[in-house]
Amino acid sequence: MDYDIAVLPGDGIGPEVTEQALKVMKAAASRFGFGLRINALPYGANHYLKTGVTLPESAFSELRSAKALLLGAVGDPRVPMGPLEQELLLALRFRFDLYVNLRPAKSFPNVRVPINTIPEGRALDILVVRENTEDFYMGLGFRDRGDIKGKFQVKRGLYELGGALGLTISPTSDMAAALGVITGPGSRRIAQRAFAMAQARGDGHLHVASKANALPQLYGFWDAQVNEVAADYPDITLKRMNVDNLCYQLPRAPMDFGVILCPNLFGDIVSDLASSLIGGLGLSPSANLGEGFAMFEPVHGSAPDIAGTGKANPLAATLSGALLLTWLGQSEAARAIEGTVREYLSKGANLPFEVGGDAPAEKVGQILTDMIQAK
Ligand code: NAD
Ligand code: IPM
Ligand code: MN
Repeated sequence: MDYDIAVLPGDGIGPEVTEQALKVMKAAASRFGFGLRINALPYGANHYLKTGVTLPESAFSELRSAKALLLGAVGDPRVPMGPLEQELLLALRFRFDLYVNLRPAKSFPNVRVPINTIPEGRALDILVVRENTEDFYMGLGFRDRGDIKGKFQVKRGLYELGGALGLTISPTSDMAAALGVITGPGSRRIAQRAFAMAQARGDGHLHVASKANALPQLYGFWDAQVNEVAADYPDITLKRMNVDNLCYQLPRAPMDFGVILCPNLFGDIVSDLASSLIGGLGLSPSANLGEGFAMFEPVHGSAPDIAGTGKANPLAATLSGALLLTWLGQSEAARAIEGTVREYLSKGANLPFEVGGDAPAEKVGQILTDMIQAK
């Protein structure tokens, strides 16, 4: 059996890490008797600088014929920060209504962590469940030299939202404004997923990040939706926390946390924090799931500071590839990849730079590939 997979390597370290991830995924596929037909998409900063196009409409139809997408990272210092990320990465999440963003942060052997609050012999196993289509990510932003008169029309899987924002300021001044939007259906569907996952893990509790003290209109509403869903899960204790306190408590008592449900913006921040606690962004994979399509990508970005140096850790992309294989129903192959990553790290030789070694991404990918092929 062959699967059609799209790959968008993107910018910076994106191509470096996806190349290694694909190598490892293909080795696992051939060991478990299936194939991956890869359609590589050229979009990203280079394509944009050459053509002025971030993501053409044709890309969406091309992607519809694939089972899933593996993305490296987008973002390039030659391009102003924002439009590329919004029109490419966020557009993919929104157009395919990939409302579930799963960001697991698990301990790995031999990886030094910046905290001493994980007891010897215990492993961290955090899962950030991030709402992926709403909140301050709606793209409803305006900036002007004086009064703001902005019109908007956005489409999500669940609804279309249109309107206008008019702000007058006196004395006149340059200013910017962005709207955060959270809807009942949009927040309840992600809350349901988070509760179901906490239940499946047998955790007995679920943390939810909020900020209803400062933004009661938005996050008080979020809390109310989460509470409504909580009523269907009486066996799960809901632990609501303001996100500032959550960020404070997480490094102090990381073992107290399992599934952490977050609105979009806080989920972005909390997942980088969780990555730090396990020893590196280069170890943190993610899945963006919709109903019929899914996109897999490392939590990290294009890391322009190390692009082209060989220092990128390809494990986050490789583990994202494993999540992709799970989505395809090839769980054995996915487990083989994660198991091989653990075995490789536990040997403590030829480790990636990020975790104190000196092996370039390519070497790490080759070692994993060889290990999988040798089994
Ligand atoms: P970043 O995640 O790219 O990098 C943060 C830090 O972590 C850097 O010091 C980097 O060197 C390090 N790092 C990240 N991944 C690593 C890896 N695999 N191995 C070793 N070290 C790694 O965040 P940033 O610097 O804020 O963003 C750079 C660009 O990437 C921006 O344009 C941003 O918008 C974009 N970005 C894209 C995505 C994505 O495409 N999914 C995610 C985050 C940021
Ligand atoms: C991530 C990234 C993106 C986000 C950016 C690049 C828009 O930081 O995937 O974590 O904020 O979601
Ligand atoms: Mn991020």
